[in-house]
Amino acid sequence: MSIPIHKYDVVIVGAGLAGCAAAREVANTGLSVCVLTKLHPLRSHSGAAQGGINAALSDEDSVDLHIFDTVKGSDYLGDQDTIELMCSKAPETIRWAEKMGAVFSRNDEGKIAQRPFGGQSSPRACYAKDRTGLTLLQTIYEQAHRDGVDFKDEYYVSDIIYKDGKINGVVAFNLVDSKPMIFNARAVMFATGGYGRAFAINSNAHANTGDALSIVARHGLPLEDMEFVQFHPTGIAGSGVLISEAARGEGGKLFNSKGERFMEKYAPNKLELASRDVVSRAITQEILEGRGCGKNKDHVNIDLTHLGADLINSKLPELRDLAITFLGQDMIKEPISIAATAHYSMGGIPCDIDGHVRKNSVEFVEGFYAAGECACVSVHGANRLGANSVLEALFFGRHVGANIAKDIKIGISFADATEQDALDMIAELKKLKTSNGDERIPKLRNELQEGMTKNAGVFRTEKSLLKQQKLLKELKLRFNNIRIDDKSNIYNTDLQEAIELGHMIDFSAFIVEGAILRKESRGAHYREDFQNRDDDNFLKHTMSYMDKEGDFFTEYMDVKLGKYEPEARTY
Ligand code: FUM
Repeated sequence: MSIPIHKYDVVIVGAGLAGCAAAREVANTGLSVCVLTKLHPLRSHSGAAQGGINAALSDEDSVDLHIFDTVKGSDYLGDQDTIELMCSKAPETIRWAEKMGAVFSRNDEGKIAQRPFGGQSSPRACYAKDRTGLTLLQTIYEQAHRDGVDFKDEYYVSDIIYKDGKINGVVAFNLVDSKPMIFNARAVMFATGGYGRAFAINSNAHANTGDALSIVARHGLPLEDMEFVQFHPTGIAGSGVLISEAARGEGGKLFNSKGERFMEKYAPNKLELASRDVVSRAITQEILEGRGCGKNKDHVNIDLTHLGADLINSKLPELRDLAITFLGQDMIKEPISIAATAHYSMGGIPCDIDGHVRKNSVEFVEGFYAAGECACVSVHGANRLGANSVLEALFFGRHVGANIAKDIKIGISFADATEQDALDMIAELKKLKTSNGDERIPKLRNELQEGMTKNAGVFRTEKSLLKQQKLLKELKLRFNNIRIDDKSNIYNTDLQEAIELGHMIDFSAFIVEGAILRKESRGAHYREDFQNRDDDNFLKHTMSYMDKEGDFFTEYMDVKLGKYEPEARTY
């Protein structure tokens, strides 16, 4: 078999906001750049970001306040140098997006409208109704296309070509006909987004299976701070589909089955606009203590009826549609049913402020970059503030794209790839496709997701985490006995789902490993058996490595502190 080898200066994997923004920067320097995505770019999960993108624009706000809120929101685990960079560049990022053609909602004075979001000192989220991510994605994708970026849709990247501390490209196959190929490049950037599908109730697209993380980890490279998974307070009950924080930003109130506005108890000052970790825990606790609503007492209500039809229809039209579609509830007329949903992953592929991927806590992989949710540049630390992820994706996408171009000009070596580089992956796919065992992918996936939600969810204990660790080991063994019914080459989703499940099993083990070792509660990681933050022992980043047998080695990396000293975090 002859395997096509495509050569580019830069290959970017993932076509969401970070990938598109980076690709455009690279293309504008005259370098050749290709973006590979297993979807169509406009189906990337960035398009699901509803409520806004943060920037300190108003006279009442400041970059310093944005930095402080983000550091505090991160429960002091965020690196203050990266936070400072992102927040100080946020106003320019908004102006840039507007210049590209993104149409933001306006206030009565004709300025870009901004709404309050959780954990913020001032209304800071710029928005386009409740379709902010989609508006930005459509704009940036169009501009990247116009500037000559070569998009390759429906290509599944299944491995990196990584030798002697240097990355030379990726191995992929075309989902249309399963044909393998190599994309040989000086630089590779991962911008593949999040991995919330590891949980049963989540707000993520089906594509968010964390492929990139497991690919990186299987090469013995570390993953950082994986134990920190964000649960968004308001997912549609039962399905987890996102009801944006904009609903609370615009004035939505949370009630339990007794009609109590329970946030008065948990966050007396900020109420529903406390940070997400605080509100998600409050909702979950109300449910666990029997004050949930409905016949199964498995959700609480958010009431928006007092906002009136005009505001809801003009600012939250998408949310209203979603609640009608998934719940049969019209938020103009009645409260709607919500519960916490796995939403965002603070951890990921460790990289420095310029997007260079770490080989360990001191060295880097030559030619390898990451940005957006799959990366851990640690602007969110232990808990992300709402509307900071769209900012992260857009800002760091551009920033890392520009850095790649700069590094290439200075000199990143190019090593020719050969067919040999794809042979392991081809053999692996063949083995998977011919699997005729007894285990079914959907069943294994359900067990993984249910277990992660129950044992490694909003509340965790050593016992629950050890149970999940055992389950993951069993699932990994049972995965060797799967059955793939579809033996064809055309859009073989059976095969794709099997590969994705393998990835989910591997990166989930990192989440659980980090959570077992972190014997404290910080941000989104809440241990019922260690309820306090422990700065003496755990003000540090987790860096975990997995060996071929699936065993872990974990080291810790210093947090970059700065102007803001850790202090008690209350809302
Ligand atoms: O609630 C939301 O609109 C989500 C935004 C975000 O995760 O930043």
